[in-house]
Order: sequence, then structure tokens, then C-alpha cells
Amino acid sequence: MMQENIKLIDLVIELVDARVPLSSRNPDINELGKNKARIVLLNKADLGDPVYNGQWMNFFKGQGAYALEINAKTGAGIKAINDLVQEACREKLERDRKRGIVNRPVRAMVVGIPNVGKSTFINSFAGKACTRTGNKPGVTKGKQWIRLNRSLELLDTPGILWPKFEDREVGMRLAFIGSMNDEVIIREELACDLLGCLQELYPEAVCERFGIRWQRTFAETLEEIARGRGCYNKGENLDLKKASDILLDDFRSGRLGRMTLERP
Ligand code: G4P
Repeated sequence: MMQENIKLIDLVIELVDARVPLSSRNPDINELGKNKARIVLLNKADLGDPVYNGQWMNFFKGQGAYALEINAKTGAGIKAINDLVQEACREKLERDRKRGIVNRPVRAMVVGIPNVGKSTFINSFAGKACTRTGNKPGVTKGKQWIRLNRSLELLDTPGILWPKFEDREVGMRLAFIGSMNDEVIIREELACDLLGCLQELYPEAVCERFGIRWQRTFAETLEEIARGRGCYNKGENLDLKKASDILLDDFRSGRLGRMTLERP
């Protein structure tokens, strides 16, 4: 579907997750979106570590991309996108002008892996004031475009990129942020993997949040969390699955603090 739609657009707006800006990218987009202008949006910036949000912005800009930190949920940072679109599409607009085409809006498509915030972003960016064009009964058939203003139209179905991972680390990070179906993953194992990352990057955060100390192994640390949170099942055994859910939930919601698991 994306291959089909990409022909219709001038600009690819790629969303990545600020907590794992590399693992949440799908490298296929480079092939799919070649010859198109590109903007990288570091979404969920409210959940990423502010220090590393800044470093990632520099990294993307250093690669020649147009990049912006945003929070699609609150709309923070979104206003600046219109100017960035003009900048990213300058060549195209210039070409149009030379051919005598004026006022043809830039057409953009939002892409990203599941759960990165594409729908939230489109709603927030388009707002309520926008008009949906195309597919009006009896009027036109075909793609639905959201007219944002005189100079920008957005395809209203985002391009869903499958997360791509050859190595276990990347798959694990995608599971931490909830971009993979984690019903197929053993919760306790995932929680221990997350503890491994956190011990290396944010060791204090875990101790402060749960009032515990790091134990000899991650499994023992998880047991401490279970004890601290009163996670027991019927037989008065520790309920490690419940403790794992608490840890993962706290990480995903930002209650453990703003964290970035990948460094540029
Ligand atoms: P998708 O279309 O790419 O699959 O993602 P979607 O917009 O459905 O967003 C996935 C989840 O991420 C949603 O949470 C959404 O609210 C949240 N989200 C999107 N952008 C941001 C952001 O910038 N910051 C934060 N903190 N969260 C963001 P949910 O749990 O599915 O729903 P809800 O908790 O909002 O009810």
C-alpha cells in the first residue's frame, strides 16, 4: 500500500519513538522514500530523557534530515512543523514555481511502526478545523486527503511499517515500548531484560521508584519488586508476572522517569 501511495506524495513524515529512536525506525523507509523530502519527528519526547532528545536531534540533523521533537498527545512542538515542511520541500516548491505551478500544496504521508503515535499525531496536527477531501459520497473516489492549510495536504491513512529487527536487542527494545505483541513474550523474561537495561542506564530510578536495592540477579530484583508491591498469588507465592506488569507499565507510562534506552 505504501509503495502505491508513495508515488502520490512529495514528503514523508517519519515518526520515531524518542525512547528508542533507532530501533523504532524501519530501514525500508529509506528505499521506499528515496527521492522524497523527509522529516523525522522524535515523538513521545515527553517520555524521552531531555538530554538525549537533544542529542538525537543533533544526530538526525547531522545526517541531513529535518527533525523535530514533538509530543503528539499534547500537541507540543507541532506548530513548528509547517515551517519545516516549507524548508524540507524548498527544492520541489522551487521546481514548481519555475514550471509556473503556484499554490500546489505539498502532499505528505505519515509513516512509522505500530504504536509510535501516527494516529494521535494526525489528529493533533490536523485538528478539528481541517477538511477532509476525497471519498465524499458522490463526489470523488480514491484517497482521502486532509487539507491542513493552503500549502499542505496529508494522506489520512498512515503508512504502517513493520518493525524490523535482525538482532534480539532491537526486538527487546520494541517490546519494552509496547510496539510488539507482547503476548508472545514471557513477561518475567521481558521484565528482567528491562531491568538489565535500566541497571546500566538509570540504576537509581528503579531503586527510588520501588524502594529497593539491586540484588545479585535481575530475577531476584524482580522478586524484591514483587515483595515491595505485595504481588502474591493464592498460595502466598510471589506473583512475578504481576510485578513484571507493574515494572513494564511504569516504564511505558513514564512513571519511572524520562528515559532513553539508545544513545546516538
Ligand atoms: P499508531 O497510530 O502509530 O499505532 O499509534 P497511536 O496514535 O494509536 O498511539 C499509540 C499510543 O501512544 C497511544 O496511547 C497514544 O496516546 C500514545 N502517544 C502518542 N503520542 C504520544 C506522545 O507524544 N507522548 C505520549 N506520552 N504518548 C503518546 P494508548 O495507551 O493507546 O492510549 P491512551 O493512553 O492515550 O488512551
